[in-house]
Amino acid sequence: MLSTADIGLLRDDLVAAGYTIDGLTDRLGGTALAGLARNSSVAASRALGGDRDPQASAIRLWLLQQPVAADDLTSWTSLSALRATGLVVGDAEVRATVEIKPHGSDRSEGWICSDATPLDGRVGKPREDFVLGASPASTTLSQLVPPGRYGRALDLGTGCGIQALHLDVAQLVVTDLNPRALDLARISLGLSGIPAEVRLGSLYEPVAGERFDLIATNPPYVMSPPGDARLVYREGSFTADNLVRQVVTGGADHLADGGTLTVLANWAVTTGQPWDERLAEWIRPTGCDALVLQRELLDPYEYIEIWLTDAGLSGTPEYLDRYRSWLDYFESAGIEAVGMGWIALRKAGREHPSIRFDDWPHAVHQPVGQAFGDFFDAVGPSRLAEADFLARAWQTHPGLVQETIGDPGAADPQHLVLRQQYGFGRAVEADTALAAIVGACDGDLPLGVLIGAVAGLLDVDAGALRDEVVPPLRRLVADGYLLLG
Ligand SMILES: C[S@@+](CC[C@H](N)C(=O)[O-])C[C@H]1O[C@@H](n2cnc3c(N)ncnc32)[C@H](O)[C@@H]1O
Repeated sequence: MLSTADIGLLRDDLVAAGYTIDGLTDRLGGTALAGLARNSSVAASRALGGDRDPQASAIRLWLLQQPVAADDLTSWTSLSALRATGLVVGDAEVRATVEIKPHGSDRSEGWICSDATPLDGRVGKPREDFVLGASPASTTLSQLVPPGRYGRALDLGTGCGIQALHLDVAQLVVTDLNPRALDLARISLGLSGIPAEVRLGSLYEPVAGERFDLIATNPPYVMSPPGDARLVYREGSFTADNLVRQVVTGGADHLADGGTLTVLANWAVTTGQPWDERLAEWIRPTGCDALVLQRELLDPYEYIEIWLTDAGLSGTPEYLDRYRSWLDYFESAGIEAVGMGWIALRKAGREHPSIRFDDWPHAVHQPVGQAFGDFFDAVGPSRLAEADFLARAWQTHPGLVQETIGDPGAADPQHLVLRQQYGFGRAVEADTALAAIVGACDGDLPLGVLIGAVAGLLDVDAGALRDEVVPPLRRLVADGYLLLG
């Protein structure tokens, strides 16, 4: 594999060629970039025309998977190392065997090195140790992580190393079961100037006895039949959802106090057991606070079709046999549907952890990492002893709006809805008194005073109103509608 010094040379070559996010945007334009996002190279090829300058050559080589004349790469100081390590092949005409893409986030800008994305409708079975590039799932995971600076973080199943470009962390450990993934992750991290320890091994084996402030993972959660050919990026050697279960149950042992585990996952929905009960069995023993959102529920047919297509099996003679044996496997394992969603744990060290499950197929406001962080931070305030809860001044989240629904021209609305235009986009119906109290929460006056004032305005007993509104107000705090002033 490329040495650190050679990765440095490659980085210099990429910069010198203008093969950066800005360089690509200027050179190719929005239409071609949108085409590449759809895995179509046609518009980008047309934008380059017959150009053979260093930037055009870099785009052809690393992004469009096209051959480039070696004569056009004479200025590349890394070329001999790239050839020696097989990252490019060919003499007079050179081809890349991997893809290198400029990639940026709020935190850093760099490059991602991975196996080549199939372009232009090309189908074919990927190699078993295929290393996926930046995928929609990678982006989703990066958005789930509560923002902030972390001390120690673990990127479990790093693949091409993409999560590292999204983390703000003092000390990063990245692991993978696939040695090729680690080779390519080393290149991504080196090109992007991100220091990290890179370790080979399954799940938490490479970090035995270590603890982290953050563990982020998009593990191989596809539940294919044991014995079927496997792609290491998407399916482990575990049966059903046991790999995800071990990520969750084992994760708690590797969290530092106050640490967060964020997992993008699939789980089996088994006959006779609601999905949340099954996941609660995994989560309760960890002693962590948890928030789990089931974003989608797929029937076995939908699920299997997605992953057969992903494996390049559509239209092949194997397709139907694999489909049937997968269905048989699900039936024998009692898997009647598959949940897809987000799992987050925080090691808060509480005697009575807050564990919450939501079926949440609704649109969210990305990035939702902040909302996960806010959920965990709100557990303590939402549980304050009543006197303390009432003595505090609360304020509405700046993104909260009130919607009124009623007949046109009617004096009073039939429904009042408090809606989050942020985070998970939750909404809750409120009666006039609750909405008035929430509306008055401006971070100045104690809640108890506001309840008394609203009781006076509505001419109701203040004690009765307090008893009525405190439970829903606690839920509004827990769900991020109200914040401590
Ligand atoms: C879906 S990919 C995620 C890659 C990357 N983290 C991302 O967000 O795009 C899953 C990764 O987990 C790795 N993996 C598979 N089995 C593993 C295991 N038992 N322990 C650790 N990593 C594993 C795969 O090689 C692959 O790189």
